[in-house]
Amino acid sequence: MAFPDYFLDDLRARTPLVDVIGRHVKLARRGREWLGLCPFHNEKTPSFTVNEEKGFYYCFGCQAHGSVFDFVMRREGLGFTEVVERLAAEAGMESPKPSPEAQARDEVRVRLLDAMACAADWFQGRLATDSGRNAREYLKGRGLADGTVEEFRLGYAPTGRTTLKEALLARGFAEDRLVDCGLLIVPEDGGEAYDRFRDRIVFPISDPSGRVVAFGGRALGEMGPKYLNSPETPLFRKGRLLYNLAHARPAIRDQGSAVVAEGYMDVIALYQAGFANAVASLGTAVTEDQLGLLWRLTPEPVLCFDGDAAGWNAAARAADRALPLLQSGHSLRFALLPAGEDPDSLVTTRGVDAFRQLLSDATPLSDLLWRIAMRDRTLDTPERRAGFARDVRAKVGRIGDRQVRAFYEHHYRARLEELFGTDGRTPEARTASGARGGRDVSHGRRLPRHHGLGLGTAGVTDRRERVLIATIVGHPDLLEQKLEEFVDIEFGDPALDRLRDEIIKIASGSSGLDSATLKRHLREEGFTATLEAIAEARIAPLAPFVRPDASLETARKGWESVLSVHRSAVTLPVEKTAYIEEFDFTDEGFDRLKAFLGEAERNGAAEAADADPTGAGPP
Ligand code: UTP
Ligand code: MN
Repeated sequence: MAFPDYFLDDLRARTPLVDVIGRHVKLARRGREWLGLCPFHNEKTPSFTVNEEKGFYYCFGCQAHGSVFDFVMRREGLGFTEVVERLAAEAGMESPKPSPEAQARDEVRVRLLDAMACAADWFQGRLATDSGRNAREYLKGRGLADGTVEEFRLGYAPTGRTTLKEALLARGFAEDRLVDCGLLIVPEDGGEAYDRFRDRIVFPISDPSGRVVAFGGRALGEMGPKYLNSPETPLFRKGRLLYNLAHARPAIRDQGSAVVAEGYMDVIALYQAGFANAVASLGTAVTEDQLGLLWRLTPEPVLCFDGDAAGWNAAARAADRALPLLQSGHSLRFALLPAGEDPDSLVTTRGVDAFRQLLSDATPLSDLLWRIAMRDRTLDTPERRAGFARDVRAKVGRIGDRQVRAFYEHHYRARLEELFGTDGRTPEARTASGARGGRDVSHGRRLPRHHGLGLGTAGVTDRRERVLIATIVGHPDLLEQKLEEFVDIEFGDPALDRLRDEIIKIASGSSGLDSATLKRHLREEGFTATLEAIAEARIAPLAPFVRPDASLETARKGWESVLSVHRSAVTLPVEKTAYIEEFDFTDEGFDRLKAFLGEAERNGAAEAADADPTGAGPP
């Protein structure tokens, strides 16, 4: 509803910003302004200012800003109309009379809402009766406790063709209205209207204020469509709502995070497992409106997707929709579930901790976009690499907010450089200029790396080192065969050295260690940042065998190749190492290199042996 300006002005005048904000934030006077800790982001020193004269708040930390209405909208996750009505009521002001048309529309809405509320009660009642026995069994079979069923107001629509219709007509509702709100269907041939939901479990869907505006109906068996939902009605527009939002709001606020699943059952199973902050997008890709609803409540909701191809596509669509809407401090994270799982099946079969871990591992939007651009691609030719870089830039170009876009540009430029070394010089050129780390030019003797000369090649060595360690992290069972070699690797990067030591410590303490468990232990030991540096998303494009889903055999072969290259790099005379820098982690690349190294070894065996006190020459 549109409010006249005079009314809003009056309301602002009677609702001092400092009073409204002061209920949530401790404010201290500073000159003309008030200062406090920002309620919209985490901070220890205050950067949230309120200017009563201008009727405006502004946070220097997260750029949150707006009027008293914006504050309450964001704080409570309410719409403008609701906020105005609430503040007006608090200020003892009467809202102006709406136009006759608006009034008529509102009256219709009220009647439809009544019918929906009544239907929800009635469905709920049926679930408790004899006719609802199968439905009760079904819900129990899916692991729902009675209290959960009650909390979500689940119901049952009986088998008869007009049972609901008769019940609601008897309560005085007009048939037309029941059709308008989607509870009844009028057959095409103009016959008698009948119940839309028959022999189904019924999930009431509420609007953000908690009023029932639609239903989802699940079949008890495998027959027919699994879910039937209310059609679009004056009360219900699917893409504008999130299932369970009103119910989850307090938990989302308290925890400062929201979990977004796809289905009703996901939300309910998550709630039961202790994740009260779960909502669902009702099976559609998340819409702009839904993102808006979420961002009013929490800066970085986590969207869950099945890790199969369809799930990736859905995640990509959501990411695409989000780009134009991003703002400082507003983003998304993505939890990609093991293929074939949804949050319901995951918490039920693998437990709460597995899901919690998944949430804490959730991929930031920036990373997801990178991985999507990388998907189904090999980056083995300059053209393909250029194509990849172009795609990444195109994504960034779609970001609406200038500041966010600038940060993304910076972030991706760094990652592209890391991946391709885009300083535009060939390895030969770098060799010729003598910018080379790790080796003394005259003798091929080892020097500590990172001694200040290594700008040109540190990245290359580093990349190889990271592949070596990432492979082990992805396949800890490799250590059963490769422990000694792993222990012996020379890491130039001290962080990787420490990581290796910790891996060995953990692996020696447990047999049958899997990758996820290893990573968890490492994170607990404070290696999160190092793990990030060797994250699969960064390394796998170079060396696909680091992925935990690559076979052990593939991982072993890949690892052996890289290890032998790595050792050669340490012992080979410097003028020959350009070849090693070109090593691209592929089998062919390795074969080429091996042929070359064989030759190099024959030509320079004495020199290499001399230079390498450990005697660990090329194989
Ligand atoms: P899913 O097929 O993932 O179902 O659809 P689910 O939620 O896991 O349900 P269970 O576990 O099989 O009972 C996700 C959501 O997509 C919508 C529903 O909102 C559903 O919760 N959907 C799905 C439909 O609207 N119609 C359908 O036929 C299927
Ligand atoms: Mn499911």
